[in-house]
Amino acid sequence: MASIASTSVLFVTLLQYFLVIGTLNISVCNGDHGKKISTNNGDQHHSSPKHHGDKIDDDEGDDIHGLKMKNFYRKSCPNVDVEKIVESITWKNVGANPSLGAKLLRIHYHDCFVRGCDASLLLDPTTNEATQVEKEARPNLSLTGYEVIDEIKTRLEQECPGTVSCADIVALAARDGVSFQFQKQMWKVPLGRRDGRVSLASEALTDLPSASSNFTTLLRLFSRKGLDKVDLVALSGAHTIGIAHCGVISRRLFNFTGKGDTDPSIEPAYAEILKAKCTTNNKPSSGNIIEMDPNSSIAFDNHYYININEKKGVFQSDAALLTDSFSATLVKEFENGNAFLANFAKSMVNMGAMEVLTREDQGEIRKQCRFVN
Ligand code: HEM
Repeated sequence: MASIASTSVLFVTLLQYFLVIGTLNISVCNGDHGKKISTNNGDQHHSSPKHHGDKIDDDEGDDIHGLKMKNFYRKSCPNVDVEKIVESITWKNVGANPSLGAKLLRIHYHDCFVRGCDASLLLDPTTNEATQVEKEARPNLSLTGYEVIDEIKTRLEQECPGTVSCADIVALAARDGVSFQFQKQMWKVPLGRRDGRVSLASEALTDLPSASSNFTTLLRLFSRKGLDKVDLVALSGAHTIGIAHCGVISRRLFNFTGKGDTDPSIEPAYAEILKAKCTTNNKPSSGNIIEMDPNSSIAFDNHYYININEKKGVFQSDAALLTDSFSATLVKEFENGNAFLANFAKSMVNMGAMEVLTREDQGEIRKQCRFVN
């Protein structure tokens, strides 16, 4: 089994390498990972990405879960380059504050995993709601960057009122935040999401994996959303950028089994470095932050996988990727930066199409991203 998996992964990797090198673009057609070779234990992976070869794209482009690959806003917002506007505002902000790229990417992930990519995460609490909104759920308290989405939305409302959804803006801004470093769009974002009207903190608690999740839990939560092991490993590579608060890993560092010990799965010298960073006045300090990929936390690169293989993953959920043989094979494969970027691009399109609202009778196009109409 392992050798079949590893041979086919190698094949896909080589194929993707040539696609990337051949086009000097991350080659993604519709985000479908293509036919999946599936085995009994759920080891699935992407064969060559699906191409439109036999079919001539019309103006609207092909569908993915009801989203359009091309020209979605051409008729509803004519003479305005919606994507360019999102890109220029995102790049301006990320250029001024490079840590924002990670924030925008995480917003998209946290939005998509709860009720699909419908911008439900962006809704602010209102005084007449008894229940808490997603934003108020514990895993979302450390999210920032919402003001960039607001800035983009305000500008697009001036150009084409009531037309471009907040959910599409979030998906584009996540792509553009990552793409800034490369100065080109790293994948195509299918568009046509509508905005949801419901936001519940309780759903964020059940649907988002935690930093201490083991592999079984991670795969269960990803599978529920239609994502597979390749998506899990590729998307986890997002942790090549950004920071974590020490509070998230303080148990892992200082009291793993309740006996003042450290998780033995962290490389001991690295554990000491993390412990030093997560301490103030010799005491664990939960508000401190660490770079998840030391000295490279704004570079979107393959270091995440190198770190994991060196047992320097920050979270248990990162280390858990080595506890499943197929996943561990992928972690090795994605040490190749081209293989990682190609798979990340495809998995982002998959994640961005999860449970989307696309029909006129679903959701709405919000006027302001923080409030339903
Ligand atoms: C596989 C399950 C995942 C778990 C358990 C997880 C957990 C976490 C945690 C605990 C943090 C630190 C938050 C803080 O302390 O401020 C974090 C940061 C981050 N996560 Fe994940 N995450 C997962 C998957 C993903 C995915 C799929 C993406 C995007 C595609 C992503 C993107 C990020 C980014 C960019 C950051 C850094 C945010 C910043 O710099 O403020 N994560 N994640």
